[in-house]
Order: sequence, then structure tokens, then C-alpha cells
Amino acid sequence: MTKPSKTAADGYRPDAGLYDIFAASEGTHALPDAASFARLAVPGARVLDVGAGTGRVSLRAAAAGAQVWCAEPSPAMRAVLLAKLAALPDMWSRVTVLPVKAPNFELGCRFDYACLAGVMQFIAPHERLKLFTHVARHLPAGGLLALDMLEKTPASFETSWTERDLHHIALGEVVYAMSAWREMLSPFKSRTHYRLSTRHGVTTTEELFIRDRYFHPYAHALSDLQHAGFHPDPQAQGASAASGPTAVFLFRRASSES
Ligand SMILES: C[S@@+](CC[C@H](N)C(=O)[O-])C[C@H]1O[C@@H](n2cnc3c(N)ncnc32)[C@H](O)[C@@H]1O
Repeated sequence: MTKPSKTAADGYRPDAGLYDIFAASEGTHALPDAASFARLAVPGARVLDVGAGTGRVSLRAAAAGAQVWCAEPSPAMRAVLLAKLAALPDMWSRVTVLPVKAPNFELGCRFDYACLAGVMQFIAPHERLKLFTHVARHLPAGGLLALDMLEKTPASFETSWTERDLHHIALGEVVYAMSAWREMLSPFKSRTHYRLSTRHGVTTTEELFIRDRYFHPYAHALSDLQHAGFHPDPQAQGASAASGPTAVFLFRRASSES
């Protein structure tokens, strides 16, 4: 049975339960580059993980001894994160899970480090400055911000593509597969149509759903970051092994309030 395409109110409701399995099947190539984001969280640091998802970054950071606040709007992703926490009672005092959506959020406290791993795709260009301004308010002078999904060159912008396989994994007798096709709606926005199928023997269930994403040229994002009071971190080189939009970019909160 195939359910018709639609944009879910909770954008990750259809695939949240498979998010970590699909990431695990890609090993160290899984994106976002959770290990690179997490290693910036030092023991005892206060970390804000905006768009924490299932906690791939947050739980690594908490395991390293950081105190982590997970801001995540998707109830389905939060549910997976909370289920993972159920098996990690040693972390319960260090991990706070909040139903928070960027760009407008006010947590009433400051953090040493904020990260946006795989999240910029959901921020419209006109909301970018607002997002960075809100993040800046949550960091002290010198506070660190890490984010990915910035496009260094126009050539790295994605184009439309026809249906392609993204994931295929067998768990016991069931095969889960995800494919997708993409259309560009504008130079800075795409619409991806996902097909998630679950096969057991001769029975296959399919669900079609849509997620839109935005593209952010690095120069545009840098201008907004600077207006919000950030500057590129001089020690940013080597933050991640990846290059292109999957690279992790580092910025520091300037000393004066914006
Ligand atoms: C690609 S997932 C990345 C999850 C996690 N950071 C990781 O590294 O695996 C993107 C996450 O951003 C969340 N998200 C989408 N829109 C958001 C918004 N406006 N504010 C905060 N998070 C958002 C989604 O619900 C999803 O959990």
C-alpha cells in the first residue's frame, strides 16, 4: 500500500524510527558528521544542540562529560532520543530535552558551545539572521558555534535528480528501503520526495512524504553571522575531515553584544 506524498506536520514522523539504523549502516560516512561536532564538547561544558534529532551529537557530548541541552521540534525524533536515554541512566542529570524550534527560542541561559548539525537545511534564508542572533544571545563572548550545510561555491549547489536509492537495510526478516527524487523549487530551495518501503516476504508497505530544504551560500551565511556578532574561528581548520557543504564550520561569538 502506498500512502500519498505529503509534508508531515512533524517532518521526521515517517522515518525517525529508522534514522539511527540508516546512519549506523553508513558507519563513519553518516551525515551529519556527529563525531566532529561532538568532539568540540569538552567535559563539563554547557552544550546547546539545536536540532538535536535522535541525539547522535548530544549523547556523544554527554558521554564525554558535557552538560547538554537538546532543542528538537520533532516529537518523533525526541521520542527516539528519550528512548535511547532510557538505557543511559548515568546521563540523565546531564541531558535536557526541549521541544524547541529555531529560529525563535529563548532558554534564559548561556552555553559554552552551540551546534547546528544538519539543521541549516530547514532554515529559510530570511530566518538565518534571526537564528544566528538567537544563538548569539545564548553564548558568552568567545563562545563557540559549529554548523554545517553552508555552500562554499555555487557549483556545489544541488540540482534536481530522478529517483535514487538512499538506504537499504535488513533487520531480521524485514527489509527497510528509502529512495528519493528531488526538484529544485528555486536556486535556494529544493523539494525532496521520499519513498520509504517496508518489505516482509511478499508484503510491502510504502509511505511517500516530502521534505523541503534550503541552501545557504557560505558568503550569505557569513554576512548574517557577522551581523549577529560571530567571526570565523581562527582554529577552525581541521574541524572535520569533510569538505564542501558537509564540512563543519566554526565561529566564535565576538566580545561585544550585537
Ligand atoms: C538531519 S536531522 C539532524 C539531527 C542531528 N543533529 C544529527 O546530527 O543527527 C535535522 C534535525 O533538525 C530538526 N529541525 C528541523 N527544523 C528545525 C528548526 N526550525 N529548529 C530546530 N531543529 C529543527 C529536525 O527535526 C531534525 O531532527
